Amino acid sequence: MSDRRVVLITGSTDGIGRATARALAAAGAKVILHGRSKPKVDAAIAKLMEELPGAELEGVSFDLGSQVAVRKGAEQILARVPELHVLVNNAGIFADERTVTSDGVELTFAVNHIAPFLLTELLAARLEASATRAPSRVINVSSIAHTRGRIHLDDLSLASGWTGYAAYAQSKLANVMHAIELAGRRDPQKLVAYSLHPGVIGTKLLRAGFGPVQGGTVETGAKTSIRLAGGEAVDDPSGTYFSEGTPTQPAAAARDAAARSALWDASVRLAKL
Ligand SMILES: NC(=O)c1ccc[n+]([C@@H]2O[C@H](COP(=O)([O-])OP(=O)(O)OC[C@H]3O[C@@H](n4cnc5c(N)ncnc54)[C@H](OP(=O)(O)O)[C@@H]3O)[C@@H](O)[C@H]2O)c1
Repeated sequence: MSDRRVVLITGSTDGIGRATARALAAAGAKVILHGRSKPKVDAAIAKLMEELPGAELEGVSFDLGSQVAVRKGAEQILARVPELHVLVNNAGIFADERTVTSDGVELTFAVNHIAPFLLTELLAARLEASATRAPSRVINVSSIAHTRGRIHLDDLSLASGWTGYAAYAQSKLANVMHAIELAGRRDPQKLVAYSLHPGVIGTKLLRAGFGPVQGGTVETGAKTSIRLAGGEAVDDPSGTYFSEGTPTQPAAAARDAAARSALWDASVRLAKL
């Protein structure tokens, strides 16, 4: 077995995810880049190889809006990498209209929460089995928008009252709750989980959601993911939420254990686990 840490970063063809991939590859990790389309993944790998000739990179492409695709993608990953130490659930969207996927889930909730939830469950055994030197890590890139979110347990697809922001904030709250719940359900010797707000960062997601806002650089946005995914031990307990690098108490809704458990059960049902 190689000494390199193996890190899978979803949505690493662009934005914060691409900057995270670059920094971790530069630090010596083996990085699996993920994106929705193969040409974009191939192009991102080619560019990184130019910049970092010694990097060890792999690519995988699948649409997080399709559970069949997520399941196939997870199978490919498991077949290709015997060890996996870190999963960064980074990919995300801010939708401009309400769409429902072929799985019957509103697209924002499907891509931003159900897909990472499903992917994490499908890869958890491999992550745990790879925790020989240190616990493996799941890192959910959430948002400060989670503080404005509400989990609509009786209408997670927001058939009534959909707005792009309500859907986004609900999904980002779900990211925080997922990480806290994972922390409680998994042995912290084997698997730890964190969530984070990366800052307001100038990416296409920011423009899609908030218009021509001036945001920080993607390198700044990637800092917390890089630290949590890197080789150094993380002293903060599993489940911690970080806002721009600082451990921060998440919204009250995320601290409600009964609500987290109910969301977990609903996610299991929606992901057909
Ligand atoms: N930017 C901010 O200010 C900000 C603030 C708070 C939180 N965040 C969070 O940061 C994370 C990264 O966002 P970003 O700002 O870096 O956005 P971005 O530049 O738009 O990058 C998003 C990434 O996710 C991928 N992706 C989107 N939908 C996908 C799908 N259905 N299947 C597979 N991959 C998909 C994109 O692939 P394509 O390139 O093919 O679209 C891209 O690689 C998100 O979770 C977001 O919620 C961002």
